[in-house]
Amino acid sequence: MPSWPRAAHLSFVVAGKGILNMITIASSLVSNCVKRPRAAVLGLFLALLFLPGIPAAHAASPAGPAPIPGSPLDAHNHGVPYDTGVHQIARLFALIAYVLMVATLLLGAILRMRYFERQVNRATVYGAHMTIGLSALIFGALHGLTFLYQPIWHIGTVRLLVPFLGPVQRFPVGCGVLGTELAIAVGCSVWLQRRLGYQRWLRFHQFAYLSFALVWLHVFLVHPEPRHLNLVAVGVALGAGVCLLAFLIRVLPSRSRLRQRAFRTGGGQA
Ligand code: HEM
Repeated sequence: MPSWPRAAHLSFVVAGKGILNMITIASSLVSNCVKRPRAAVLGLFLALLFLPGIPAAHAASPAGPAPIPGSPLDAHNHGVPYDTGVHQIARLFALIAYVLMVATLLLGAILRMRYFERQVNRATVYGAHMTIGLSALIFGALHGLTFLYQPIWHIGTVRLLVPFLGPVQRFPVGCGVLGTELAIAVGCSVWLQRRLGYQRWLRFHQFAYLSFALVWLHVFLVHPEPRHLNLVAVGVALGAGVCLLAFLIRVLPSRSRLRQRAFRTGGGQA
């Protein structure tokens, strides 16, 4: 058996080689993705599916891992009451809001994609997009409001309205507050459509993707569940994958648009 320093040296060499290999693979992947954007979409989609496998990054002390800030154990250690009923309601509203948000983004992307122009009834999809979007906002806001009744989070009216002020899990909770507020702004901007002009309004409306990214960060960081392999984690990753796919399809120029652009340039030169 190798001695301890030799074993440590060997493991450093192996780890170093592993990192070098990963850098080589990553650089070839990046250059391939630039050449083939559709392969990049698929790669990112698969990466998202495997994100739940990333282990939780909680600091472990010799006495065992510290309790998750805001958890029942944390409340117990601080001598603060913890309401399990409020937690269940918050969780239920959060999961409903997440599913509705994914559906809203998907329907929004369908409304804008040429492929679906003849496949779906535009008025029906538009109606569903609006109704489901509004419901997502209501459930998301109600989920946030429930934390007024869970003292361990120290969330009052001001901390509920101004992101990144709360003392417990400031960044993850702040992402939730900012994501919800951005989603509300994006939703309310419908009333300004005529005043802003369609194209300018559409640019602002696309902040919906940023709002979803913030909410996803919130969900991913605030609770360890989506970082382990379980049903909720797979659902959260699938939802994020669907939204990422919709976003990339909208952002990357389609072949028909590229052909159109080439035709226009060619026509201009002729
Ligand atoms: C004002 C905005 C928000 C605030 C203040 C907020 C706050 C919180 C807090 C403190 C937790 C931790 C709950 C716990 O571990 O006991 C949490 C969890 C969670 N939040 Fe939010 N959140 C907000 C918006 C949202 C939105 C818009 C969504 C989804 C669309 C969402 C989805 C979730 C999910 C899925 C969890 C995990 C629930 C669980 O498993 O217990 N949050 N949120």
